[in-house]
Amino acid sequence: MNRPASAKIIGTGMYVPERVMSNEDFAHIVETSDEWITQRTGMKERHLAELGQATSDLAVEACRQALDDAGVAPADVDLVICATITADNVLPATACWLQDRLGCTKAGAFDLTAACSGHIYALAQARAAILSGQARTVLVTSAEILSSITDYADRGTCVLFGDGAGAAVVQASDEPDTGILYTALYADGSGGAMMLLPAGGSRRPPSHDTVDQRLHYMQIRGREVFKFAVLKMEELIDECLHACHLTVDQVTMVVPHQVNTRIIDAATSRMGFPPEKVFLNIHKYGNTGGASVAMAHHEAIREGKIGPGDTAFLVAFGGGLTWAAAAIRH
Ligand SMILES: CC(C)(COP(=O)(O)OP(=O)(O)OC[C@H]1O[C@@H](n2cnc3c(N)ncnc32)[C@H](O)[C@@H]1OP(=O)(O)O)[C@@H](O)C(=O)NCCC(=O)NCCS
Repeated sequence: MNRPASAKIIGTGMYVPERVMSNEDFAHIVETSDEWITQRTGMKERHLAELGQATSDLAVEACRQALDDAGVAPADVDLVICATITADNVLPATACWLQDRLGCTKAGAFDLTAACSGHIYALAQARAAILSGQARTVLVTSAEILSSITDYADRGTCVLFGDGAGAAVVQASDEPDTGILYTALYADGSGGAMMLLPAGGSRRPPSHDTVDQRLHYMQIRGREVFKFAVLKMEELIDECLHACHLTVDQVTMVVPHQVNTRIIDAATSRMGFPPEKVFLNIHKYGNTGGASVAMAHHEAIREGKIGPGDTAFLVAFGGGLTWAAAAIRH
């Protein structure tokens, strides 16, 4: 079997639902203000799905765009990976709905759960499948309807999240030293309770009681996550620099999980990255979980901030706890 030299991202896409929720809109439903949200998070707006709209409805649009961008026919996709914590259903996988709707007739399909690190975990699986010769073309999508698990009575969390989907087509290439150069995946389950959706799984199946106690919504210890996120983001950037033998000057753009501008600023500035080398779209979309890095990566490319030959670091962290990075040469 001929093993390829690299796994390259050859197309990207994204989609957000039409409905926009601004900071001012939140001030009507909880005790908060545009000033507080902007200063503490950097967020101004987020897009929220309509009731009845499912995660695959967003992902299918992002995937079509990515396939189009890559010039790849759905029938040529070997594997569909969907990273999500808000699957359409527990059974079947959202990736299977997508496989059918997109017409990826020859592809295997599975979901992956790594919360906000999901896109990078999925890119790592795509790269591994390609470099091992198991697949030639992999469609990765990271999509969330976080509004379906957000408690809109809790001002500490509800302002943070939005809905959206990103997608990337990863394909085998004979060019060495290009594409996804390096990936780093980590987890620490001892911190699982820091970001928790208590009920709805096998531990606490849904019941009238779990609904009455509002246990089907995310519970987040924001202050603890803040410290963990800054530390891990620095470590991941440092690891990518060392593993790829690169200096800060040789990296065109850091594309971080869009969690909070204060977290991103603290970590990237300490690592020596000036603001113009850090891609932000948090003001438009808030935190869209696993979709966040996928959407930011797509927009950075579309806006010309990452071009052919450029090197970008994708960095994320989230529930699990998980944290992950990918160094990508375009
Ligand atoms: C959530 C987050 C924005 C809070 O910012 P912070 O500076 O840490 O703020 P604190 O939690 O210390 O809260 C400060 C005060 O603001 C209040 N507050 C919280 N949310 C508020 C809101 N939406 N509007 C107004 N006040 C708010 C708190 O009640 C607290 O008041 P108190 O001091 O009287 O108790 C920040 O910690 C964060 O971004 N954490 C990570 C988020 C996360 O986990 N995301 C998902 C994982 S990827």
